[in-house]
Amino acid sequence: MHIGILTGGGDCPGLNAVIRAATLELLAQGVRVTGIERGFLGLMRGGMRPLAAADVDDILDQGGTILGTHNRADPFRDFTHDGDDRSEEVLTRAREAGLDGILAIGGDGTMNIASRLHQCGLPMIGVPKTIDNDLPLTERTFGFDSAVAIVAESLGRLRTTARSHGRVMILETMGRYAGWIALEGGIAGGADAILIPEIPYDLEALAHFCQQRERQARGGSTLICIAEGCAPIGGAVTVARHVADSPDPVRLGGVGERLRLQLEPRLSSEVRTTLLGHVQRGGTPTAFDRVLATRFGHAAARLAAQGRFGGMVALQADACVVVPLSDVAGRTRQVPMTHPLLSAARGLGVCLAEPSSPPAMSQD
Ligand code: F6P
Repeated sequence: MHIGILTGGGDCPGLNAVIRAATLELLAQGVRVTGIERGFLGLMRGGMRPLAAADVDDILDQGGTILGTHNRADPFRDFTHDGDDRSEEVLTRAREAGLDGILAIGGDGTMNIASRLHQCGLPMIGVPKTIDNDLPLTERTFGFDSAVAIVAESLGRLRTTARSHGRVMILETMGRYAGWIALEGGIAGGADAILIPEIPYDLEALAHFCQQRERQARGGSTLICIAEGCAPIGGAVTVARHVADSPDPVRLGGVGERLRLQLEPRLSSEVRTTLLGHVQRGGTPTAFDRVLATRFGHAAARLAAQGRFGGMVALQADACVVVPLSDVAGRTRQVPMTHPLLSAARGLGVCLAEPSSPPAMSQD
């Protein structure tokens, strides 16, 4: 048997831990392992190399991916050839390479492509990666815990400078259209206000919260953690750029600065914004992510060795399960309004910038 491994989409901490666990388990089962370079680009243009135990020896705690990745390579829509469908060539290349199946490690774009290739006859298994934690049917994706740890540490650092100056400090996190990073990072880092895309923010409610803190004796600083996908009530998300030919061309970013401009005229304190950006995706994975990535890699390799393709490994009730790739493709998972962390945040007195009274219904 011969299995390929690829990492697609944006990188995140823990990719190498998956590659290591999957490679070692496959080799132990007598399976030949090939690394496909730069995600699906390696299948479209060529770019494969054998993986031996020595290649994955030292990579458990390394950030990024030893295989490289690509956020635009899509066999069904070739960005270098006017969006042509090159999936037939990819199937031929995989057949010629003698691959019996592929482990695709990635986020929603990668799962979507993997699901389509599987339906076209190339056996695939998905492994859920993303700092955003927004893939459906899994309670956790690896990379998320590492991002949360960085947000929490950054908030801790911002708090001391916020207190010293009596300032309002805004930290903008990644997460696309889901608020998982801001919510968990904000709670772990002791943010005073947490804004997530699932709750469009009420600017006046947030300004009132900051004003109340300004009147307090201890300098009145406020630490705000805002997710990049947030928008004010009735407003739109803040788009940083468009990446043409990417499965999702919209790149969010800048809402923290937008919020600063909205808040400053309403407050007497100074307001500063920190855009955390790709720092959240870099560096070594946390111990939790190393363990989760190892579990996922091991489980995916065992499925492949048993010839059980077409699924994505997932974490449900702390067990590693398999869900159909086709059920994951094209869907994302936001923070549900019933999530216990939201109620815990309210209990802590954290401002979620919810409207104090329900917004008026628009009259037609
Ligand atoms: O999906 C992971 C993620 O880091 C998002 O949180 C963020 O919006 C996006 O990728 C950034 O993409 P890029 O690396 O293309 O700037």
